Amino acid sequence: MALAATFFKFAALVLFTLCLHRLSQYLFRKKDEPPMVPYWLPFVGSAITYGQDPYVFFFRNREKYGDVFSFVLLGKKMTVCLGTQGNDFILNGRLQDVNAEEIYVNLTTPVFGSGVVYDCPNALLMEQKKFLKFGVTTEALQSYVPLFEAEFHDFVAHLEAFQGFEGSISTTRVMAELTIYMASRTLQGKEVRQKFNSNFAGLYHDLDMGFTPINFMMPWLPLPVNRRRDLAQRTLARTYIQIIEARRKLGKGLETENDMLWHLMSSIYKNGNPIPDQEIAHMMIALLMAGQHSSSSIASWIMLRLASRPDIAEELYQEQIRVLGRCEKGLMRPLTYEDISLLTLNSLVVKETLRLHAPIHSIMRAVKSPLSIRTGGADGLKERAYNIPTSHVLLSAPGVTAQSPEHFESPSYWDPHRWERTAVKEGDEKVDYGYGMVTKGASSPYLPFGAGRHRCIGEQFAYLQLGTITALMVHEFKLSLMDGETGIPGTNYTSLFTRPLDPAMIRWKKR
Ligand code: HEM
Ligand SMILES: *[C@@H]1O[C@H](CO)[C@@H](O)[C@H](O)[C@H]1NC(C)=O
Ligand SMILES: *[C@@H]1O[C@H](CO)[C@@H](O)[C@H](O)[C@H]1NC(C)=O
Repeated sequence: MALAATFFKFAALVLFTLCLHRLSQYLFRKKDEPPMVPYWLPFVGSAITYGQDPYVFFFRNREKYGDVFSFVLLGKKMTVCLGTQGNDFILNGRLQDVNAEEIYVNLTTPVFGSGVVYDCPNALLMEQKKFLKFGVTTEALQSYVPLFEAEFHDFVAHLEAFQGFEGSISTTRVMAELTIYMASRTLQGKEVRQKFNSNFAGLYHDLDMGFTPINFMMPWLPLPVNRRRDLAQRTLARTYIQIIEARRKLGKGLETENDMLWHLMSSIYKNGNPIPDQEIAHMMIALLMAGQHSSSSIASWIMLRLASRPDIAEELYQEQIRVLGRCEKGLMRPLTYEDISLLTLNSLVVKETLRLHAPIHSIMRAVKSPLSIRTGGADGLKERAYNIPTSHVLLSAPGVTAQSPEHFESPSYWDPHRWERTAVKEGDEKVDYGYGMVTKGASSPYLPFGAGRHRCIGEQFAYLQLGTITALMVHEFKLSLMDGETGIPGTNYTSLFTRPLDPAMIRWKKR
């Protein structure tokens, strides 16, 4: 009895404290700062609602507070800036104002290795991005299409799940495997692809397990997964260095002469030094990790979308026949780079899928000097200005404008044809941060590849890879949803890059 009473008192005290805490959020709100999403648990804040479905969280709070608001995420105050103005404010922010590496370094350095990407000054990242971007020249991309196609046919011929005339596949599992073979055969080079047949796949998996949200804050936890991550990073880096040394001895081969590794091996930093082998190794690992998750996620979504819309898949098939004369089985000529660019609807399928399923829902920046943001009008609320102190972290979610009715009619409807009817305002202002001209995209509601100095350099490669997979899958198979399914699966937001909830099964039938 006494125990129950004590417990009751304790529970009442906790409840009272929480209520007081919540009340204080209203009473002591700083009027010049963005409104704070109220929360019950200190430290945890809105982590649960944000983590379950960030888009539901963003849209619901946007309705209440407008385009600019803050929330607490595991002890950190996050300030969300939505709308085209918000995208521009964060992504095109000045170097002295916003900073990416402080946020990302904990997570990425143990995975990529030291000295590259976020483990170096931003000026060096800009140089590294220039090397990477100029490593995917048109010649390189042209040489990749036959390799993509060879990997695809080899994969389909050998995968258990593709034997026979019809069957079902887990899109997430199958696309993850297919995209990594394709990317490693092309961007990573012949030697790395060969190693994927033996020990690389396991090492890649161990490394990948280190790419989890908890490691933003506590990358050093002495857990077995982190030990395996560190071992895999060292082993992979050593393997790349051996490949580089072997290439130096043997010289250029016809099959690899255009690839990224040779390009990095002959690149020179502005200070006149070549890139040290270890940094090349770490950049190659970064490239592998950066491209893989986004591409495999989008490839899975494309397959799911096509399975749910056989009419669009049929249009894609007819487009191939019309444009490329590709129909008779066994007699088709190999695909080329030019072919992929001629398949207009095929590219629009990629584009539309990126609109609804951009794999990165939150882009974060540390605030380096006190900022002020003007907002209002566009979000239906009156014009106002807020101060953002350096203790806050900025969060940009360009996926919100991509899914807003102000910018896209019936935004949640997947419709590749919409891009034939409406052109999206890109804004033509261009800027060079050191890795070639990029559009600032300041007024564009569609930024699946980001904007500003941290913009993606993998866009052309991703479009080519995804366009080739789409064309080949449609040519080979008729896809449909599983019996009894009426729609596609929801989104898994627990991993760093979003993807369909497993197993995301679909049916296939050979044409
Ligand atoms: C569908 C595929 C892809 C999507 C949607 C995507 C998306 C993005 C986004 C949104 C950013 C900006 C991140 C930020 O501002 O913090 C980014 C940066 C980047 N991406 Fe991609 N990406 C894709 C594929 C690739 C591929 C294939 C590669 C490599 C070839 C790649 C390499 C990079 C690199 C190096 C950066 C620069 C990071 C920085 O400057 O901080 N991405 N990507
Ligand atoms: C990075 O890790 C350190 C040490 O654990 C931690 O103090 C810091 O807050 C982390 N950074 C971020 C952005 O979470
Ligand atoms: C969601 O992603 C996490 C992290 O990658 C994974 O462990 C989990 O199995 C996934 N859940 C589903 C249902 O897809």
